[in-house]
Amino acid sequence: MIFTILNEKGGTGKTTITFNLAVLFQSRAKADIVLIDADKQKSLTSINNLRLEKKFKISELDEADKHKDKIILIDTGGRDSKEMRQSIIISDVLIIVLNISQLDLFALSRIQTLINEALQFNKNLKTFYLLNRVPTNFFLSKEINEFKDVLLQTGINIFNTEIKERSSYKRSIQDGLSVVEYKKDIKAEGEIKSLYNEIKIKCNVKEM
Ligand SMILES: Nc1ncnc2c1ncn2[C@@H]1O[C@H](COP(=O)(O)OP(=O)(O)O)[C@@H](O)[C@H]1O
Ligand SMILES: [Mg+2]
Repeated sequence: MIFTILNEKGGTGKTTITFNLAVLFQSRAKADIVLIDADKQKSLTSINNLRLEKKFKISELDEADKHKDKIILIDTGGRDSKEMRQSIIISDVLIIVLNISQLDLFALSRIQTLINEALQFNKNLKTFYLLNRVPTNFFLSKEINEFKDVLLQTGINIFNTEIKERSSYKRSIQDGLSVVEYKKDIKAEGEIKSLYNEIKIKCNVKEM
């Protein structure tokens, strides 16, 4: 099963989410995990290099079909590219990582066009939005709901799990760890586990 984590906009948290999900897949999914770093900046590869144990196998996009029996997570760069289009076409699941801002909404219409094109080749493609870096400030909940209403109109599902803005996502990764391995922020751990569980159910991931 191939998952692509994308957004044409940089800095929304694609690499952070890809890496944190990968660690949970590694400990729970039945299939082996392979990462593909389709971003020229190679941040996912750098994070993997920081790991002292349980390093991931990193493969090339062109070799994705060699790993059909595995779970592949593809991290893409923050711009439209040959790699991003290639990833969308070969994927079973797309996770579009968004932040709550008007600029993210602008980037969305381009992504929708890309997805509609991909659906013509790949009818079984599942697509989800994931809200990341959601402010923990309660007073913003009205804005968050308005943002979600706009997203729903695009016909793409939104994960129920929201990932909040938490410094532990930054700190853990600097040590090559997921928030679950870092064990210093139980709320962040809960968010990533909840996201994994949603994916497991909605995408039918087999566990060990
Ligand atoms: N939920 C979060 N809370 C706090 N900081 C985050 C969160 N997600 C990502 N970040 C930070 O935002 C920045 C961009 O994240 P990154 O994963 O590199 O984005 P992208 O891969 O989309 O460019 C990084 O400094 C990262 O640590
Ligand atoms: Mg990145």
